Amino acid sequence: MGEQPFRMHFGYKEVIRKLLLLASSALFLRASVEATSLSNFLIGMGSYDITGPAADVNMMGYGNTGQSAAGIHFRLRARVFIVAEASNITDGKRVVFVNLDACMASMVVTLRVLSRLKQRYGDLYTAKNVAISGTHTHSGPGGYLQYVLYLVTSLGFVRQSFEALANGIELAIVEAHENLRPGSIFLNGGEVLGANINRSPSAYLNNPIEERLRYKYDVDKEMSLLKFVDSERGPVGSFSWFPVHGTSMNRTNQLISGDNKGAAARFMEDWFQRRKLNATHEDAGWVDFVQHRGAATRRSSTYGNARNGSGRTGHEAGENGPLRRHPSGRLSSNTQKVRSKFSRSMSSSFVSAFCQSNVGDTTPNTLGQFCLDSGLPCEFYTSTCNGKSQQCVGRGPAYPRDHFESTRMIGEKQAEAATKFFQEAQVQVHGKISFKQTFVNFSRLSVGLPSGEIVSTCPAAVGFGFAAGTSDGPGAFDFTQGDKQGNLFWRLVGGALHRPSQEQINCQKPKPILIDTGEISTPYAWTPSVLPIQILQIGQFIVLSVPGEMTTMAGRRLRNAVKETLIEKGSGQFNSETHVVIAGLAGDYSQYITTYEEYQVQRYEGASTLFGPHTLQAYIQEFKKLAGALALETEPAPAPLPPNLLDLQHEFLPGVEADRTPPGITFGDLKQDVQPNSSYRTGDTVSVSFYTGNPRNDLFTEGSYALVEMIDGASGWQPMYDDDDWSLKFRWSRSSPMSIISIAELDWTIPKTAPRGVYRMRHFGAHKSFLGPIQRFTGTSSGFLVAG
Ligand SMILES: *[C@@H]1O[C@H](CO)[C@@H](O)[C@H](O)[C@H]1NC(C)=O
Ligand SMILES: *[C@@H]1O[C@H](CO)[C@@H](O)[C@H](O)[C@H]1NC(C)=O
Ligand SMILES: *[C@@H]1O[C@H](CO)[C@@H](O)[C@H](O)[C@H]1NC(C)=O
Ligand SMILES: *[C@@H]1O[C@H](CO)[C@@H](O)[C@H](O)[C@H]1NC(C)=O
Ligand SMILES: *[C@@H]1O[C@H](CO)[C@@H](O)[C@H](O)[C@H]1NC(C)=O
Ligand SMILES: *[C@@H]1O[C@H](CO)[C@@H](O)[C@H](O)[C@H]1NC(C)=O
Repeated sequence: MGEQPFRMHFGYKEVIRKLLLLASSALFLRASVEATSLSNFLIGMGSYDITGPAADVNMMGYGNTGQSAAGIHFRLRARVFIVAEASNITDGKRVVFVNLDACMASMVVTLRVLSRLKQRYGDLYTAKNVAISGTHTHSGPGGYLQYVLYLVTSLGFVRQSFEALANGIELAIVEAHENLRPGSIFLNGGEVLGANINRSPSAYLNNPIEERLRYKYDVDKEMSLLKFVDSERGPVGSFSWFPVHGTSMNRTNQLISGDNKGAAARFMEDWFQRRKLNATHEDAGWVDFVQHRGAATRRSSTYGNARNGSGRTGHEAGENGPLRRHPSGRLSSNTQKVRSKFSRSMSSSFVSAFCQSNVGDTTPNTLGQFCLDSGLPCEFYTSTCNGKSQQCVGRGPAYPRDHFESTRMIGEKQAEAATKFFQEAQVQVHGKISFKQTFVNFSRLSVGLPSGEIVSTCPAAVGFGFAAGTSDGPGAFDFTQGDKQGNLFWRLVGGALHRPSQEQINCQKPKPILIDTGEISTPYAWTPSVLPIQILQIGQFIVLSVPGEMTTMAGRRLRNAVKETLIEKGSGQFNSETHVVIAGLAGDYSQYITTYEEYQVQRYEGASTLFGPHTLQAYIQEFKKLAGALALETEPAPAPLPPNLLDLQHEFLPGVEADRTPPGITFGDLKQDVQPNSSYRTGDTVSVSFYTGNPRNDLFTEGSYALVEMIDGASGWQPMYDDDDWSLKFRWSRSSPMSIISIAELDWTIPKTAPRGVYRMRHFGAHKSFLGPIQRFTGTSSGFLVAG
């Protein structure tokens, strides 16, 4: 494939090569730091925990009813930048970009956030200048969208998921707003190889040959990166865009995870912090970080409640109990969690986000699609094995090792590339801050084709290929991609819901309609028809917010069309240097957008393109209008507003009734301790378990359910790792399927870099009694030795 796999353990030559690379990048770094004297914007960064409920809630993405949350691998965050024109500090034009470790943005969440921002700031932040995009992790809690089709597997709406997202986004924006300071922005990017492939190459091949010949790959390999530099404090963050599905963790995973993009963000933020903490080693690059990754820097002399006997330990945890952050978004002085202590402080923080783009037909499962039974490649056109979808599964780069390893590898690929682009960034962003946004009713929208012919989009509908799923997560039903007939059972069920009219059947052709979602309104809309589209301008950098998953070629067509329009209408303001990126899954969600040619093939992506064969052309038409408005500084025509269906939502997931322990045992007691007087080596996994309560009782937002501590002769137990760390997993389970007795298992795989010493593990939880309040508790393991 001509791609060089990135390895954890570099050969000697590799190290030399990388060091040479770093030496040259150090020069660029200096060049860019000098350039910061030209600060021309106000910049604010923010970040907040949006992990949400870590038990019982169905995960959003695979549509697998069996995949509900049962613990945490690492936490989910909302990461934000605000850029404002510096000329007018109080009310200069500004744009806000939010990247969520979530499967996608949701209109009902967006509306809640906007109304909160209005209460706080009046008209400073509105639907026009706030963009909210999701990374597309398939391992986060679901139930936060408002349309029926996206709530089927979560048993309806899940208010806790919704609130965790809305609060986290709001507080991350508040933090960025309060951090606004003079600074400058640099733009860089380049190819990232080995991190994505096309999962529907047969559909891509249906695009015209002349068009395909213009591109080197059948997926976009380019990452675009913005580096944010505070004029006094130096670099404060970076945001990058690169298309790859958040499906490194597969459809059986039950630990909350940011998947490959969340992992990349965690790695890069840790890299930066390590570099910053070690002043003698300022130019340390990614390689050095990988080799020294670990915890020595996580030592903290004040870990607040977790070890301070004064107060909220044991059973008396109060409102801002262990590890909790104040709702204002500020850390309270004695309740800092490990990572906060490690990587953030009151006044400054480094925020690195990995954002999604035209993700539609991409997959991180780079080894290809294979049949589980035979081990042979799947059938090319339908992704089936002996005619069935369920057996055809993509393999991540770590195969046959597990999906955690594949997630790490795809995360590291992106983090390594972003780190390099960050260090080498020298093209400064300059020019206007501007934005245009509107809503479009994509149902029966009249669309002019390049040929001059006028066609129309259709009311939304999903085809049979939708139920087949993809090799990233095959569907549970007996469907295959590329199916244009459909089986009897689903024709029956789909037909019972709504029998599509002949007009709709003709309009959606060749898609065989499985569910005519756009024409069903019981109990309320099944899929959206009014969707937001938006353009943000940050100098020569243009972000297009697309409320869905465009395929590779669809994204290319849209970016080209917008750029041409800007250059044509912008009277010199835009040129070939204008850089356009797509922010995917932004504002709301409406599934896929393929090209007309890909649609004809009706694989999963075509079957999930809601508004028929001309959906992409409709987007291009509407984005061109918006680009024209941006270039000419006019306002888009009045548009219909999307519905707010919050009050119509139903929750069917039962709440936590109560928690219990077996007789003679209290919450926080050990179920399984470490072996007495045991000693471990790096690479070993230490497991302990505790009797606990349901994590839904208390989300420990900006806190942790799990902690590894090490003893330090002078100052006692020191926090080293928490549930946001890659090496520590928090698993939650019931002692038997319907039981209200539950167990927290902490698995710590000792990193190579963990200092030798005596350690222990702690669990933080909260339990609910039948009528009483929710109370916090902690549990602690015996000590154990890490002997190197
Ligand atoms: C700042 O910008 C706002 C709106 O963009 C404008 O109304 C106001 O007059 C500007 N103030 C100054 C001092 O330029
Ligand atoms: C800083 O980095 C250098 C080079 O890797 C290393 O030798 C030194 O021990 C580090 N210092 C600290 C305080 O971590
Ligand atoms: C522990 O709590 C006491 C009383 O609130 C406080 O004075 C002290 O600074 C705390 N110590 C640490 C290490 O946080
Ligand atoms: C999912 O990943 C786990 C761990 O790597 C593996 O054991 C399992 O077979 C995978 N399942 C599927 C359907 O890919
Ligand atoms: C969107 O357009 C369709 C078809 O023209 C129409 O039936 C529907 O009412 C419109 N929706 C809204 C919210 O305007
Ligand atoms: C553990 O080690 C201590 C100190 O060496 C010793 O007193 C104790 O008996 C040991 N416990 C077990 C269970 O071996």
